[in-house]
Amino acid sequence: MELGKIVDSLELFDEEMIIRYPMEKDIEGILYVHKGWHEELLFEGDTRPQESDELVKKCLLEDFEGITKNLVVGLIAEIDGEVIGYIFIKKGRSSYFHTANLHIIAVDRKYRKVGVGERLINGAISEAVKNMQTTRIDLETNGDNYPAIRLYQKCGFEIVGRKKNWRYFCGKYVDRVTMVKYNLI
Ligand SMILES: CC(C)(COP(=O)(O)OP(=O)(O)OC[C@H]1O[C@@H](n2cnc3c(N)ncnc32)[C@H](O)[C@@H]1OP(=O)(O)O)[C@@H](O)C(=O)NCCC(=O)NCCS
Repeated sequence: MELGKIVDSLELFDEEMIIRYPMEKDIEGILYVHKGWHEELLFEGDTRPQESDELVKKCLLEDFEGITKNLVVGLIAEIDGEVIGYIFIKKGRSSYFHTANLHIIAVDRKYRKVGVGERLINGAISEAVKNMQTTRIDLETNGDNYPAIRLYQKCGFEIVGRKKNWRYFCGKYVDRVTMVKYNLI
């Protein structure tokens, strides 16, 4: 798939929101949203060391190359030239070719709960079906990440597994939840 290609648009806050494949010039914007999310986690008490900017940029460049080879679907949401959200879905290899993993999604705090996440997921799924012949998508998320779990359920994912007490976080045990969306084609 071609970097920069627009796949969706809608009016949001009297401005046009575009959903498109990312380009190298978006890396700083993606990093900004990514770091904003990690600041929230830090505020909630997550003390795990974070990846360096250089590592995140290197991974993004690898994902961009994957996009050009139809091994990755990566989309950003953009308003007035500003990245406000992103999603990456990665195709399985060899006998997992039909499956893909929803690797990451995040929306800038200022733009949450207005449908951006849903639009990113639905856009990325339809691109994965078209370009990677994906028939099922799986993902993992923390059992206490209710906004994410509700979003995934709204987009047709079901919970198929739960690793109980997977992590000890801020004084309590948190599960890890596996979710799948089947029969995309
Ligand atoms: C999870 C996240 C991507 C949701 O993005 P969003 O743009 O706010 O989601 P949307 O506005 O598209 O919401 C769609 C649906 O998701 C659910 N949802 C989203 N936020 C929610 C919240 N805070 N509480 C409960 N349900 C929520 C609702 O069902 C909502 O539909 P509704 O508006 O009809 O009720 C966003 O909260 C985020 O970036 N979180 C931090 C990063 C993260 O946790 N990523 C997932 C783990 S990899």
